[in-house]
Amino acid sequence: MSVARPLPHDSAPLHVTGAARYVDDTPVPATCLHLAFGVSPVARGTITATDLAEVRTAPGVVAVLEAADLPFANDVSPSIHDEPLLATGEVHYAGQPIFLVVADSHLAARKAARLGRVEIDEAEPILTVEQALAADSRFEGGPVTWSKGDVDAALAAAPDRLEGRLEIGGQEHFYLEGQAALAWPQDNGDMLVQSSTQHPTEIQHKVAEAIGLPMSGVRVETRRMGGGFGGKESQGNALAVACAVAARHTGRACKMRYDRDDDMTITGKRHDFRIDYRVGHDAEGRVLAVDFTHYVRCGWSQDLSLPVADRAMLHADNAYLLPAVRILSHRLKTNTQSATAFRGFGGPQGMVGIERVMDALARKLGRDPAEVRRLNYYHPAHHAPPPAPEPPPEKLAGDTHDDLASRGAAGASVKTGGGKRFRAAFSPERKGAENTTPYGMEVSDFILHEMTDRLLETSDYTARRAAIAEWNADSPLLKRGIAFSPVKFGISFTLTHLNQAGALVHVYQDGSIHLNHGGTEMGQGLFRKVAQVAADRFGVPVEQVRITATDTAKVPNTSATAASSGSDLNGMATKAACDEIRGRMAACLAELHQADAGEVVFADGEVIVGGERIPFARAAQLAYEHRVSLSAAGFYKTPDLAWDRAAGRGRPFFYFAYGAAVTEVAIDTLTGENRILRTDILHDAGRSLNPAIDIGQIEGGYVQGAGWLTTEELVWDAKGRLRTHAPSTYKIPACSDRPDMFNVALWDGENYSETIYRSKAVGEPPLMLGISAWLALMDACAACGPHDPALDTPATPERVLAAVTRARG
Ligand code: MTE
Ligand code: MOS
Repeated sequence: MSVARPLPHDSAPLHVTGAARYVDDTPVPATCLHLAFGVSPVARGTITATDLAEVRTAPGVVAVLEAADLPFANDVSPSIHDEPLLATGEVHYAGQPIFLVVADSHLAARKAARLGRVEIDEAEPILTVEQALAADSRFEGGPVTWSKGDVDAALAAAPDRLEGRLEIGGQEHFYLEGQAALAWPQDNGDMLVQSSTQHPTEIQHKVAEAIGLPMSGVRVETRRMGGGFGGKESQGNALAVACAVAARHTGRACKMRYDRDDDMTITGKRHDFRIDYRVGHDAEGRVLAVDFTHYVRCGWSQDLSLPVADRAMLHADNAYLLPAVRILSHRLKTNTQSATAFRGFGGPQGMVGIERVMDALARKLGRDPAEVRRLNYYHPAHHAPPPAPEPPPEKLAGDTHDDLASRGAAGASVKTGGGKRFRAAFSPERKGAENTTPYGMEVSDFILHEMTDRLLETSDYTARRAAIAEWNADSPLLKRGIAFSPVKFGISFTLTHLNQAGALVHVYQDGSIHLNHGGTEMGQGLFRKVAQVAADRFGVPVEQVRITATDTAKVPNTSATAASSGSDLNGMATKAACDEIRGRMAACLAELHQADAGEVVFADGEVIVGGERIPFARAAQLAYEHRVSLSAAGFYKTPDLAWDRAAGRGRPFFYFAYGAAVTEVAIDTLTGENRILRTDILHDAGRSLNPAIDIGQIEGGYVQGAGWLTTEELVWDAKGRLRTHAPSTYKIPACSDRPDMFNVALWDGENYSETIYRSKAVGEPPLMLGISAWLALMDACAACGPHDPALDTPATPERVLAAVTRARG
């Protein structure tokens, strides 16, 4: 059995020895050229004159291109064609590419790019939420509103009310490998592109438009990324298109990679948000109505901002049943980098809004925030438990990792065992209310009651909370804080048609297996998980399955590897392809052995047919000799999705992934400095395809989420220039910032929905567990005085200090 084993990442030895090949490591011909952009130094203005004479004559420069030199489409937008590769007339942010230098070395291109003289008639940039609102500078014409129930009436009728404002900072992706692309002219004008992208089909599409070819004339390959985190869903377009245009222009291979400074200056980041909230509640802390207003700074072009802002709205409830709710979302157009996808895709910002509400409410009422949260939870799952897992075809003696059946059983017993406890805590008044989200989707798989019970117990939350309060009473300068926070995250692309995937599987006559699928590998372990699925279908060791670079010529029309859907979609497509081949092999072998094809078993490196055990390689050889096709394409589309975006109604998600965290921190009230002392996490990866990789995703996601909300601060000056464009000024978490004590466990339930081996998507949801770090800091600040510390994010030492002062009043 390959599935469910905690196998290491398939490239781990390559990663740690430095042998893993990234775009910039690809051997290129000696004639390869290198590219750099000349960018706008100002945030907004009109180009009145360009003088690139010095650039053209600089050492090593082969060509210099401006917008007018582009042969076909000048557009790298993934959405509404509002993003020229090179500026035309107007510039919209400091860092926008204006011209392209093609030179014989990376350094020569960068040096020459600095010599351009571009005269720009500067205009007042629109940078802040206030400025954008005043100028009515926005996408989609006006704000988007989705609601459930009569919010105004419910607010007016509520026994008590609460309101406030929260600022949430953005986040730089800081993938270790910067953006990079390589274009290589082929026979007959075709173009081969290697790109560090989460979305090879999008690169293919934009390159084809830019060089006047049909998509069939462009082939895009992606072996791996050194991290993407959403930052390579659309932001790689500019580099790939620039390389392809320059390669067509010069007839030579062209390569481009951003230095860290350029990467941070040019590319988009996580959207920063302002959230206003008005809440109606009762005396115990039940939320009766919420009115949220989201102000989203989208930057200069639309990019993926609409679905990001949508997902923020779709997670404004997080884990809580809100009887009446309205979410109004302003998508503001500002003269800054075009904000883009980032792990969670707006979901984290929406969730931070409601978590702040829960915290403020608990503090106002003097109740334990964990209890107020639980009081407001959705009703528990009412689904019939999924059928017991298919028993493995042949129990493999000595396979200690085969814990599938036992995991299934444990999940079932937890469901009934834990049920009694949460039912007692569950408020009867709310039981009648429909268990629907603000967008009308029924929540039928809610398992956070049981997960919360378990985590509060294993983390010893209640006793530690009391101990911390006691400790704080005797500690005037240092204060500790502890916080619990839950996560409910919707799985599926909200643009329904993206929920599809393909795979291509070949079995060779020696029994080795070659697999391609539409997903890309960015360190998250997707290739390994999908290989485990293929190995399991054929009953062979995972080492027998090879996955090579994602390639648009092998699997076409792919979606971005995003929305955490990589293993769900590509795992299913791969299963379909493998099962097709397996069926053909079984039919052939059954006929040879006069057995029933339905009884042929693939296990333990053998095919068992009519009581005989045939080594898999021999079975492949036999099938080949009997002229059976050993190659198949598989396809999958997610079932049961229906989403009406205009109405804000429907079932945009196939299922929800859940998680919960408890974080303890300490702060220094003189300096605001702080650290995470301990974190306990219980996360739901369903019946995990690979517990080792999933736990890695959970740890990494948590640390990245905590970094976003604490140390990572983006600062633009009054002229709209990003001042934090290097690791010297932008602080991501270091190894030393991880919690001193870090306990991560997987929930032993399984997915109610029919996913690949009943696993659950795990890429993005754990990022939001980092919210507990911010809440714990707020708890520590609150220990300083009676007032609401109202800690905005990122909770840098400066903000912590200000919150301490606020708490003291
Ligand atoms: N993990 C690593 N190591 N590197 C990454 O770039 N990206 C995250 C997450 N985990 C990322 C990662 C994001 S934003 C997503 S959407 C998912 O992985 C995508 O992969 P999956 O769908 O296969 O989980
Ligand atoms: Mo992830 S933000 O969906 O690439």
